[in-house]
Amino acid sequence: MPFIELDSLEKTFTVRRKAGLLRRERKEVRAVDGISFGVERGEMVGYIGPNGAGKSTTIKMLTGILTPSGGRLRVAGIDPARERTRLAQRIGVVFGQRTTLWWDLPLKDSYRLMHRMYRIPDARYRENLDRCVELLELGDLLDVPVRQLSLGQRMRGDVAAALLHDPEVLYLDEPTIGLDVVSKGRVREFLRDLNTTRGTTVLLTTHDLTDIEQLCSRVMVIDHGRLMYDGELAGLHAVGESERLLVVDLERELPPIDVPGARFVRAEGPRQWLAFPATASAAPLVAAVASGYPLLDLSVREPDIEAVIAKMYGGTRDERRESLR
Ligand SMILES: Nc1ncnc2c1ncn2[C@@H]1O[C@H](COP(=O)(O)OP(=O)(O)OP(=O)(O)O)[C@@H](O)[C@H]1O
Ligand SMILES: [Mg+2]
Repeated sequence: MPFIELDSLEKTFTVRRKAGLLRRERKEVRAVDGISFGVERGEMVGYIGPNGAGKSTTIKMLTGILTPSGGRLRVAGIDPARERTRLAQRIGVVFGQRTTLWWDLPLKDSYRLMHRMYRIPDARYRENLDRCVELLELGDLLDVPVRQLSLGQRMRGDVAAALLHDPEVLYLDEPTIGLDVVSKGRVREFLRDLNTTRGTTVLLTTHDLTDIEQLCSRVMVIDHGRLMYDGELAGLHAVGESERLLVVDLERELPPIDVPGARFVRAEGPRQWLAFPATASAAPLVAAVASGYPLLDLSVREPDIEAVIAKMYGGTRDERRESLR
């Protein structure tokens, strides 16, 4: 049995909203609409999707904060909603949008409280804390009240807090949101190390695809509460019917190049852009262009994974083409 297992998981919210002056009507929001997947111990999986797709709702059910409306859910053999406290000993969670630390206390006092709350054995607590302080460079921050920390410092503080009790699973809901490039890099490096050296299972939600590219070999895409894709990041290209671009520099301005297997996209003076399927070889195309046209130079541009995903999220073909430029 997988370490994390979801079977047709559902969460429906009932929201009341104004309908006219006095009337209020109830409306059902299917935030998670029948999601099934399994995550094995030690995996590091990306969980992505547009705003409102149901990512945070899934994570809240995985932690036991929210009770599912339907389906089945197990984490380490535990039903999170029924045994939330027992599960808490085995999971760690970071919500990038909101801190789990005590706002007015110095960072180290928050950690001391966690030490007691989770009843972490002293030696293990000290060892974990030392490790986090070193790897996340928290040394100078331990005496600073959380409210005085910058976003990136606080996030590192939160990641450490989630790991003091040695959880087997770490859920991260947008851990790099709002961080600068250097801080993002530091958090990513830490997570990669955690996953490889400790074998911690990680489920990562993010809007930054670089997080996924650098950390996850597997990615799940959800939209409208449904699982749209589950596989390697590279496989998204095929699903998204993505295209590569052949950028051709001709000796002079010419009418659009017409060769089999490629589609003329646009021209700018003597430079032309041709699109062809990302899964096809560029070689025959290059040969055809070279033999039929006065060629100066040419290059192939790889598809942009952002563009592929934008398309999956519902962007139009034209928008995707635009972002390929
Ligand atoms: N407590 C709630 N009550 C009512 N509706 C909710 C509640 N929590 C979430 N929703 C709705 O459920 C849907 C999924 O929300 P969720 O927060 O899971 O999305 P998300 O994928 O995390 O989005 P984002 O990328 O913006 O964080 C949205 O339509 C949201 O409005
Ligand atoms: Mg969210």
